[in-house]
Amino acid sequence: MNTIKNYIQSHQQRFLEELFALIRIPSISADSAYASHMQQAAQTVADALSVAGCTHTELCPTKGYPIVYGEKIVDPKLPTVLVYGHYDVQPPDPLDLWETPPFEPEIRKTDLHPEGAIFARGACDDKGQMFMHIKALEVMERNGGLPCNIKFMIEGEEEVGSDNLGDFVRANTEKLKNDVILISDTGMLANDIPSITTGLRGLSYVEVEVTGPNRDLHSGLYGGAVANPINILSQMIAALHVKNNHVTIPGFYDNVEVVSDAHRAEMNTVPFSLDEYKKALDIADIHGEMGYTTLERKSIRPTLDVNGIWGGYTGEGAKTVIPSKAYAKISMRLVPNQKSREITALFTKHFTALAPKSVAVKVTPHHGGEGYVMHPNGLEFQAASKAYLETFGKAPLAFRDGGSIPIVALFEETLQSKTVLMGFGLDSDAIHSPNEHFGVFNFLKGIETIPHFFHHFTVMYQENR
Ligand code: BES
Ligand code: MN
Ligand code: MN
Repeated sequence: MNTIKNYIQSHQQRFLEELFALIRIPSISADSAYASHMQQAAQTVADALSVAGCTHTELCPTKGYPIVYGEKIVDPKLPTVLVYGHYDVQPPDPLDLWETPPFEPEIRKTDLHPEGAIFARGACDDKGQMFMHIKALEVMERNGGLPCNIKFMIEGEEEVGSDNLGDFVRANTEKLKNDVILISDTGMLANDIPSITTGLRGLSYVEVEVTGPNRDLHSGLYGGAVANPINILSQMIAALHVKNNHVTIPGFYDNVEVVSDAHRAEMNTVPFSLDEYKKALDIADIHGEMGYTTLERKSIRPTLDVNGIWGGYTGEGAKTVIPSKAYAKISMRLVPNQKSREITALFTKHFTALAPKSVAVKVTPHHGGEGYVMHPNGLEFQAASKAYLETFGKAPLAFRDGGSIPIVALFEETLQSKTVLMGFGLDSDAIHSPNEHFGVFNFLKGIETIPHFFHHFTVMYQENR
């Protein structure tokens, strides 16, 4: 299959330019001011799918932003691969920390990307990774044809919780019918350590509001005599962890999957340097749950983190005030078997109970989702493994990642499909942060590896019938 490599090499400049055009559209799903750009990004993806070889594409309306659907059915007797990705991106702020504007992609070299990386919001998460699949379709079509059927479902609300995707999937099970789901929206261990993600964490996300007096008060006249909601909220948050960094919510760990010592030992054999980890983040020491390594803490263990906290006076100078209200956004990363709804309920009960009578507490759940583990004995893992072996020259490692793609568990539930997570980003690519980037090497390697997956999956599927 050297023709694939040659084709990519002679077209890489155009591939990059096409991706840049998509990246230049600021498709920020969280901010309604960008609604027209969301529409424009969806249309651009649909057009790219048609050009690459889909015989049918459409923008499927939802209560929110459209889902882009595309397909090419070669032969109903052949297997079908469904590619999932998202065209929406995170807000780029804080803008002043970007070295170049977030929606003006530029290629610059970095230590980990000596061949250059594309700097822009969405370069890695997920426009760059999603676009690899569109170009892989073109590569297959121009070099012998698709070996099996392909479907695309590219959504525009992943970064805001995929609220409308569940309804869409449930209402279109026949249309979305497939033999495997393929996603590139995760990472790999290093450019010379190919790897397949075999686990994702779930998520429970809540917002809390603590109310004290019915209005902001003079902190001299009332200070010391009534509850200050910010003081109380801080105490309540502090009470959510104990010294060894365990979460104190009763029942929080009840269903946590117990990973065997053998599996833990194996997990810790993946190359990882604590010194480099600390250096990359400018931290003097790490922090986490006692009894677990860093790799375990960010994959097989659940967590609780405050994502934001506000209230009172934060403007210039000083204002002596006891605020009426204090707020925080809190997320819990969950591991398989912990149910998002149950954890949200346990949190609400515990957090409410932590509050003294002097304040009122309101907990509002945001989105959530379940985690996922994939077993490396399935056809999809074996086919992906062969593909990496061919393009990287070594077999990929299996590893569980800490992020969340809640729809993966939903796909399994509603479509009875297995998902294979072929991620090509690096942890250091700064997704969701200023100066997000994606290696040019990674982009091109992804485009090269995907057609091999299609080939091996089709062959193995037919052998197994
Ligand atoms: N692509 C990420 C998830 C991810 C990144 C998983 C790297 C594993 C490795 C996705 O776009 C994302 O940001 N997901 C959110 C959850 C969502 C419900 C907002 C997350 O993990 O915070
Ligand atoms: Mn993503
Ligand atoms: Mn994301």
